[in-house]
Amino acid sequence: MDAPVLASTTTERAASPAVVPPSTDPDWWRTAVIYQVYVRSFADGDGDGTGDLAGVRSRLGYLRDLGVDALWFTPWYESPLADGGYDVSDYRAIHPAFGHLRDAEALIAEALELGIRTIVDVVPNHVSSEHEWFRAALAAGPGSPERERFWFRPGRGATGEQRPTDWVSNFQGETWTRVDDGEWYLHLFTPEQPDLNWNHPDVRREHEDVLRFWFDRGVAGVRIDSAALLVKDPALPEVPENPGPGEHPNTDRDEVHEIYRSWRAVADSYPGTRVLVGEVWMPDPERFANYLRPDEMHTAFNFDFMARPWDAAQLRHSIDEMLAAHAPVGAPSTWVLSNHDVTRPVTRYGRADSSFAFAAKRFGVPTDLELGTRRARAAALLTAALPGSLYLYQGDELGLPEVEDLPDGARQDPMHFRSHGVDPGRDGCRVPLPWSGSSAPFGFSPPNSAEPWLPQPAEWASYTVERQEADPTSMLSLYRAALSIRRRTADLTSGEFDWLDSEPDVLAFRRGSGFACIVNFSHRPLDLSGRGTVLLGSAQLTGDGELPPDSAVWLAL
Ligand code: GLC
Repeated sequence: MDAPVLASTTTERAASPAVVPPSTDPDWWRTAVIYQVYVRSFADGDGDGTGDLAGVRSRLGYLRDLGVDALWFTPWYESPLADGGYDVSDYRAIHPAFGHLRDAEALIAEALELGIRTIVDVVPNHVSSEHEWFRAALAAGPGSPERERFWFRPGRGATGEQRPTDWVSNFQGETWTRVDDGEWYLHLFTPEQPDLNWNHPDVRREHEDVLRFWFDRGVAGVRIDSAALLVKDPALPEVPENPGPGEHPNTDRDEVHEIYRSWRAVADSYPGTRVLVGEVWMPDPERFANYLRPDEMHTAFNFDFMARPWDAAQLRHSIDEMLAAHAPVGAPSTWVLSNHDVTRPVTRYGRADSSFAFAAKRFGVPTDLELGTRRARAAALLTAALPGSLYLYQGDELGLPEVEDLPDGARQDPMHFRSHGVDPGRDGCRVPLPWSGSSAPFGFSPPNSAEPWLPQPAEWASYTVERQEADPTSMLSLYRAALSIRRRTADLTSGEFDWLDSEPDVLAFRRGSGFACIVNFSHRPLDLSGRGTVLLGSAQLTGDGELPPDSAVWLAL
């Protein structure tokens, strides 16, 4: 067995070219590494304490050095930010706190010069209550054509005082709000996010125009928010107790696929591959894969894998199930450890229950961050070695923990407020990134700026990019090394996937003929003798060359 190695940042960075020309491969999205930028919290260029496009532009070199192929920007549009920007008031304008349309255009072009594509977020299920269509609908009153773009209904009961249905919101609580003239409108999320009526031709036309607006500006794809919710049963029945496939009145209705077929036609009318990436939360793998048929979306987030606990059997089952579900439709799987909605992996994997479920989020759940970090490092190597595309949420490459002790006054997430404070909400994974220095704002904003919009913990001094760049054992160095190896190892992108024989609490697989990944979930170090040459480890091997518990290794065979 060769000496154990943790790849050093310097070696790996020297190996990657300074400028990577954007690949012209029409299949680029099948194996891409896509970095999710939560704009508000990435980098603040103008000193107002809120991240912006100038901040992103100033850090593009960091993203190139990290080795990502594309950036997915959470909504950067004009919005009252009632739900962090997923309440869009104008899809063609940039939020003034983030910049202007010309900044977005410059950013798209500059990123492309560094070989990085741009994916924007579209939010078709709802708009902001400040959107001109909704304002017009309110002003025009009951029975008006303006109201038909939404779901306005009279209430039940003698005076219409009862909600039209008892549907429960994805953010808890009711889904209908009554307006002054007595009608109610539907919102599957907050009242500031009225649902659109996708049976209305204006709604369809407008969204296709919005796609073209961004494709015309050079974006390589769109991430589709809440993609399974768009179509509602117009009879508005109650949700049956155990709805069969396609029977739910507001989720995963069969008619929704027609929308994505027409979007695919729009995407395919552009040169290069413009991708549709769906946010599809769907427990049934077959129903999930329906969205990925060849004339619909290209890929969708694999939340099944993300939600599983740190457990070899469960993760293996999920990998098998997801690969099997994708195969018949010819789509690649995606691998996702987190995003702006879920608990950061180092915190989650350090808990007794390391699975993820929105309904289970509570304050005061103990975590062992050292253990969680070890597992998150192993998960990074596991996911980067699986076949398909990889999503990396900003800050996970730094191993940032969830911020669980934000002051009450700082919290902003409607999920927290709508649960009456029981659910901590999603602010804890949205805290501005630490770039440099030893005290807040850690280089997030220029000197003498306004305070960051969410406060950063003092301990983040040890998580800064500056600190981690100088440390070959840091999470950042691990990610850089892994993405660099992934980029230049054909087996990792195009090699067949096969499980290798292993103990029950170990996952071992081969990619192609020359590469293997082994993850040790057990409590004992794992003998690696005769297995291959270590390319990269998530932890230092033991003196005997064994793989410690909760760690992973990449091997050349
Ligand atoms: C998606 C987004 C989430 C948002 C919700 C409503 O799930 O990821 O952040 O709150 O849709 O738009």
